[in-house]
Amino acid sequence: MLNLTLARIATTVCAAVSVLATGAELDPRARSGGALTTPLADSNAYAVPAPPLSAQQTQLFALGREAFDQRWVPAPQLGGPWGFGPTANGNKCTVCHEGNGRGPAPEQSGQTLRALLVRLSVAGANEFGGPMPHHDYGDQLNDLGVQDLVPAEGHATVNYTEREVAFADGETITLRAPQIQFEQLRFGAIAPSTMISARLAPPLIGLGLLEAIPEETLLAVAKQQATLGISGRPNYVWDVAAKKEVIGRFGLKANQPNIRQQVAAAFHGDLGVTSDYFPAENCPEVQKECRVLPPGGYPELTTRNIDAIQFFLRALAVPARRNLDDPMAQRGEQLFAQAQCAACHVPEIRTGAYPALPIGAEQAIHPYTDLLLHDMGEALADGRPDFKADGREWRTAPLWGLGLSAKVNGNASLLHDGRARDVAEAILWHGGEAQSAREAFRAMSKRDREALITFVESI
Ligand code: HEC
Ligand code: HEC
Repeated sequence: MLNLTLARIATTVCAAVSVLATGAELDPRARSGGALTTPLADSNAYAVPAPPLSAQQTQLFALGREAFDQRWVPAPQLGGPWGFGPTANGNKCTVCHEGNGRGPAPEQSGQTLRALLVRLSVAGANEFGGPMPHHDYGDQLNDLGVQDLVPAEGHATVNYTEREVAFADGETITLRAPQIQFEQLRFGAIAPSTMISARLAPPLIGLGLLEAIPEETLLAVAKQQATLGISGRPNYVWDVAAKKEVIGRFGLKANQPNIRQQVAAAFHGDLGVTSDYFPAENCPEVQKECRVLPPGGYPELTTRNIDAIQFFLRALAVPARRNLDDPMAQRGEQLFAQAQCAACHVPEIRTGAYPALPIGAEQAIHPYTDLLLHDMGEALADGRPDFKADGREWRTAPLWGLGLSAKVNGNASLLHDGRARDVAEAILWHGGEAQSAREAFRAMSKRDREALITFVESI
């Protein structure tokens, strides 16, 4: 009875939001997510569902949104579902993805990390071709444990070193590069041979549309890039449910095949919550306290929960492009094409069939990504392979909605580890296959650089 009433309230609230979010009146060029576009450009811009959802879908979306913001606790504590830990990096998804946006990067050297995860691995590959976890710490440093019962694995802080880069016109800009330092490591030092990858929580909009892009389309983009001297290639990763290797789309190295597995991996790696996908607690052999804590269930994540979060993420709309008629943004769009930013940050792609959410099917979308891996040069390299991605490759970051990031939750740090404080810094870090694009930007007049940035912040 109570459940029913709650569901009704949720349905009513969401129906109201859907009406608000209808993008029907938008200029077709502004429909970044096709039918899944919202005109909202405020702190809710990343938080509304694709309009219109059926009553049943609206209810599932509301459930997913709730589960995404739900605090998990270790059994048998009160205050949430059981399953947190025994070690973790957060107790709910929104710790790192507040408002479904990107996470905060540490502002200064010495600060501990929150939304910046440190992935660890040693040489070799696991049985599925993925990274080989560290023997004593697993594949991610967990900086939370359970009070009085299970110690955190340790802590990490960043140390920024700064350097100046000059534009062709003489103006300079300061870039900061983070270096990870470990503290209070509970199970011994982390050897210098360990491969370390710091990754900042990315925004979570339009993921359903990215899931709906046909694989052939991505392969065709890769082929076309080759004619431009750019060598984007897909990652191929292990699909746990299908028990086979498939193309990767999610994660900063396209290291997850689909939203569902990405969600299960986040529950397991970030919250310590087990699922059908990852049924074993993440407790390496030396972590005795971790191994004896009773789990919160077998598994801890219910199918209902993962179904709901999967749907919620699939149905999150993309904010509409703004400033279509601004001459600066229009000039910036030309420069974006001229500098070959558009070779990787692909302006328009068509989704294919998408039975999971048919309104996302067969849509012209403007994600400004190709979901492919690119060698971004030594300066951005993490030196840590992830399935077929090597230590210099990253997935092209989608640029849609980027200009609203600060409005959503105050965080606007860019690149895989949040080192760039704005768009200009992000571009100046580009190297490898994107070196000539970076140089084109560096050579632009101040006015053109501003136009390019205006454009990037309007999409
Ligand atoms: C401690 C911070 C943190 C927490 C907590 C967290 N995430 Fe993430 N999330 C990240 C990072 C970092 C990445 C990039 C991971 C990678 O590249 O391997 C990510 C990536 C993702 C992606 C892929 C996005 C894309 O563009 O490919 C999804 C989906 C996601 N997280 C969902 C979740 C869900 C659901 C939860 C809660 C169960 C969650 N996250 C909890 C930090 C976090
Ligand atoms: C060879 C492919 C390629 C080209 C060309 C390229 N980029 Fe990128 N871009 C990437 C990849 C890959 C990333 C992610 C790198 C990382 O996270 O370390 C990225 C990240 C970014 C980001 C940060 C986004 C975020 O959410 O963190 C911005 C902004 C950006 N690119 C803008 C541009 C602009 C503007 C140009 C043209 C001057 C350009 N890029 C050219 C591949 C490319």
